[in-house]
Amino acid sequence: MTQARPDEPAIVLEDVRKRYGDVQAVAGISLTVGRGEFFGVLGPNGAGKTTLIEIVEGLREADSGSVSVLGLPPWPRNMALLPRLGVQTQSSAFFTRLTAREHLSTVAALYGVGRQGVERTLSMVGLLGQADIRVEVLSGGQRQRLAIASALVHGPELIFLDEPTAALDPQARRDLWKVLRALKGEGRTIVYTTHHLDEAEALCDRVAIVVAGSVVALDSPGRLVGAAKAPTRLLVPADRITVERAERIEGADRVCVEGDSVVIETRAAGPVLAAVGEVAGLDGVRTRTATLEDVYLELTGSEQHA
Ligand SMILES: Nc1ncnc2c1ncn2[C@@H]1O[C@H](COP(=O)(O)OP(=O)(O)OP(=O)(O)O)[C@@H](O)[C@H]1O
Ligand SMILES: [Mg+2]
Repeated sequence: MTQARPDEPAIVLEDVRKRYGDVQAVAGISLTVGRGEFFGVLGPNGAGKTTLIEIVEGLREADSGSVSVLGLPPWPRNMALLPRLGVQTQSSAFFTRLTAREHLSTVAALYGVGRQGVERTLSMVGLLGQADIRVEVLSGGQRQRLAIASALVHGPELIFLDEPTAALDPQARRDLWKVLRALKGEGRTIVYTTHHLDEAEALCDRVAIVVAGSVVALDSPGRLVGAAKAPTRLLVPADRITVERAERIEGADRVCVEGDSVVIETRAAGPVLAAVGEVAGLDGVRTRTATLEDVYLELTGSEQHA
């Protein structure tokens, strides 16, 4: 990380566009990712996330606009940049006849990384136990861990991960969160995509929500949720209050039944919760405040139904 200039952004995009035939995959995106930032790119299937990230990685050429990565243009393929970038693509290629360790050693050798680095990375992604298994018989999630290991083995300062947790089980997902947080703690920049909104909320400093090739929102998860003013939902055990009674509570905007709960939506959570306490007691009452997923669904909903 010797070349890092902390004042210089990791990525600067200006009006980047990419079209495939009739499909405008990226429709004019401008954004900046700071050094050391954990940046999430979110959006529905086909929104253009992978296309955008592959342009930044130098794997695809933009039709127009400018792209700067660590102060350099990534296209045409920039050999000075390659060792500084770690790339896990959505469809990773493997040496399937090799074992996991042999595969990673082969990748590591390209960067001049030796045995120790390979073992450390296998351990980091939880693959030591499967290191001698051939890639072709690894499970989907194990293969994904190997793809992530291949992106990290040379200690890159800017890391791109395209849906790294898609095939991981819940425990493996949490384990990867730890790895990613540790990498961020070392000052590395991470750009990643996910469809797990809870995960993006937990990990990202900022997220860009992309719909049909354009950024429709870009901010920290906290500020996006705060600005959305989505209602709080109070879930009351259904045997303790009726819908009719709940509807008479002042400040209850909408009441419905979901499973074994009466759900009260409100923008005045405090007074409504107090009223619920008087009518039904607060035992077993759950409160659900707005999340990034609510914001996301609101922003992407109309597009999904188009
Ligand atoms: N090589 C290609 N040739 C033609 N069209 C493409 C190509 N790659 C992507 N597309 C199209 O561009 C659009 C954006 O695709 P992209 O893969 O960037 O979306 P995405 O946001 O990554 O989606 P997902 O969440 O499913 O991974 C889609 O309509 C897709 O069909
Ligand atoms: Mg994609």
